[in-house]
Amino acid sequence: MNEKPILSFNRLTILYPCLTRPAVSDLSLEVMQGQITMLVGESGSGKSTLLRSVIGLQPVGCRMQGEILFEGQDLLSASSGQMRAFRGKKIGMIFQDAGLYLTPRRKIGAQFAEMLRAHLRVTKQQALEMAKQELAALSLAIPDRILDSYPFELSGGMKQRTAIAMAMALRPSLLLCDEPTSALDVTNGAQVAKLLRDLCKKQGVSILMVTHNIGLAAAIGDRIAVMRQGRLVETGTREQIIRAPREEYTIRLLEAVPRLD
Ligand SMILES: Nc1ncnc2c1ncn2[C@@H]1O[C@H](COP(=O)(O)OP(=O)(O)OP(=O)(O)O)[C@@H](O)[C@H]1O
Ligand SMILES: [Mg+2]
Repeated sequence: MNEKPILSFNRLTILYPCLTRPAVSDLSLEVMQGQITMLVGESGSGKSTLLRSVIGLQPVGCRMQGEILFEGQDLLSASSGQMRAFRGKKIGMIFQDAGLYLTPRRKIGAQFAEMLRAHLRVTKQQALEMAKQELAALSLAIPDRILDSYPFELSGGMKQRTAIAMAMALRPSLLLCDEPTSALDVTNGAQVAKLLRDLCKKQGVSILMVTHNIGLAAAIGDRIAVMRQGRLVETGTREQIIRAPREEYTIRLLEAVPRLD
């Protein structure tokens, strides 16, 4: 397995203006190329804050220290122009609620084509054709009908898969996913998790995925990182974390889910 990091957090600290304790505290973590790294931890442990910091989505007044190296470049010292070029194109992002990504009043086809045309020099017709191919590649049945639908006409699972198709259409090398399955029912959640795993293994996109479900982390992660109160508790391969956790907190998280073996 390729063990080169695509993303490294080096002693990263993130402070929101109104909080006394950092949301992320002196955290170092590597996300390996071609792997899925699962970030688990209780609510408020700083998982989303860490993820958003990679694409520069922190609120005004937020202070950051340390380094975030993406393909060797420090994102904290990147210009806003450079960040715009990375966002979407090289680093894709999937949220818990695909509704955040899709505008309610416009059809999927128009949104998909517009997103593609913001990054690629293609006509509207070419963009729509690309969109159709992307949906088909993710085995979304009847791409034409999806493109002709408004977001509210699609099920949650369908919307999330469409959002994934949109993110993947630009062939990012890194995909950040914040609880991509937790708003879905069990069956749809499992399908989306499998789809993301397939994208990683077949197309080679590296994934950093937030969840508070350590069972999901164990099912699809190559590596697992455990966070608590802004700090990294421990990290390792799935086997290390599931079979031989070293920290009390990880053991408690594991005890809280039904056994997997
Ligand atoms: N925009 C913000 N402004 C100020 N404080 C924030 C902001 N976003 C998050 N926080 C605080 O930062 C800490 C970490 O929050 P974060 O959302 O990163 O946690 P999380 O691990 O993603 O939690 P959850 O599992 O509930 O999504 C919390 O104390 C939270 O209240
Ligand atoms: Mg969160």
